[in-house]
Amino acid sequence: MRIAVIGGGYVGLVSGACFAEIGHHVTVVESAKEKLDVLINGGVPIYEPGLEGLVHSNVSAGRLQFCANISEGIKDASVIFIAVGTPTRKEDGRANTEYVFNAVRDIAQNVKQSVVLVTKSTVPLGTGDAIGKIIQEINPDVTIDVVSNPEFLREGCAIEDFIKPDRVVVGLQSQNAREKMEQLYEPITKNGYPLLIVSVKSAELIKYSSNAFLAMKVAFINEIANLCESSGAVIDDISKGMGLDHRIGRNFLQAGPGYGGSCFPKDTLALINIAADHDCKATLVEATVKSNDERKAQMIDRVLYACGGSVKGKKIALLGLTFKEGTDDMRDSPSIPLAESLIKHGAIVKAYDPEGMDVARTILPSEICYTNNVSTALHDADVAVVVTEWKEFCGLRPEDFASIMARKVIVDLRNIYDKEEFFAAGFSYYPVGSVPVEQIG
Ligand code: UDX
Repeated sequence: MRIAVIGGGYVGLVSGACFAEIGHHVTVVESAKEKLDVLINGGVPIYEPGLEGLVHSNVSAGRLQFCANISEGIKDASVIFIAVGTPTRKEDGRANTEYVFNAVRDIAQNVKQSVVLVTKSTVPLGTGDAIGKIIQEINPDVTIDVVSNPEFLREGCAIEDFIKPDRVVVGLQSQNAREKMEQLYEPITKNGYPLLIVSVKSAELIKYSSNAFLAMKVAFINEIANLCESSGAVIDDISKGMGLDHRIGRNFLQAGPGYGGSCFPKDTLALINIAADHDCKATLVEATVKSNDERKAQMIDRVLYACGGSVKGKKIALLGLTFKEGTDDMRDSPSIPLAESLIKHGAIVKAYDPEGMDVARTILPSEICYTNNVSTALHDADVAVVVTEWKEFCGLRPEDFASIMARKVIVDLRNIYDKEEFFAAGFSYYPVGSVPVEQIG
């Protein structure tokens, strides 16, 4: 099939490359000149494992191309995806849908053939209806079926999530749209991955509900982690014990410094507003947002405690800055409030992240010094703070820290090391969700 994807950002590029990989002919429309130049010259403007190779091979095979204009990009398409951003609107926490509606108007003004118009962007409940009305006003002569097909791509494993999804959710209302969407996803569903067909509104809400539920799981386990620290229980055992119950499931029960990223913070806030618009309460989602905000703000206390109450003049090595491993995304990362507080409290901060430092430089306090590797960050440090669970950090042994740090102190906000092993090697070790182990004197 010939498809157009409006927006060459994270979702648009991953989806476009994956649709090409499963055999479709895809044109990705990207209006930002710098991004488009990178794509046309064979590069990829974001970090996502495997994406550059996938883009390259599909461009070479003639199944994937890029262009700047919607009118040119949609010329031969029978399905058009809108994959532009819906960032949080600062003034009220709602999803900003202006880029979606701009794209809809542009498509409606230029499309000559019948098409299925699909929102991949995360859009508030009722957006599909609003899109239908706009199209009807601008171009009543062409048949345009409006469909919602939310993405569930995790940064760092987005390609696998696309090709081997837990489910493909499609919201639609016409037989034509159903046939086109079934045909589009047939290379995936033939391998046994389920396609769930629902109404447009239900599809829109499935996306928000899924992300809010996962965010709630993370916030919940972080609250239990605090209780473990105060009571002597062990969070990793609690997660295992809970997760073995199939009704609960093992995933998203890893305690940490709080969730961040491009989706959970944005979608939880948007869902609260969507509920309010429908005169409903989202008490649990509100509590999740509050709990997570508090969680992130509390991370500084752990470093203060490990430093005996003050970090003034102390050399702190921050290991990891991105909101999780496998991405260069710094959006709403727990490292941001932590780094800001450390600087405010007078710490000397050296930071290292395998992928996130270019962006970090533009948003973290200018006092932070960035290093090219872990060892330089750890050199002469009083405390090492693990913020992101990069594989590169997980492989480190006590001797990798001991030989270069000034003091043997680790604050591990991701529980990536064996507490007892580090204690035996002379470290004071401060994990999340279990009591710390401290050397005497
Ligand atoms: C999420 C959704 O998973 C995906 O389906 C959606 O489409 C986009 O948003 P992503 O933001 O890439 O994906 O990250 P995810 O892996 O879901 O993690 C979100 C946050 O929760 C991260 O900050 C992560 O560190 C945190 N997390 C996750 C935990 O702290 N503990 C866990 O057990 C799982």
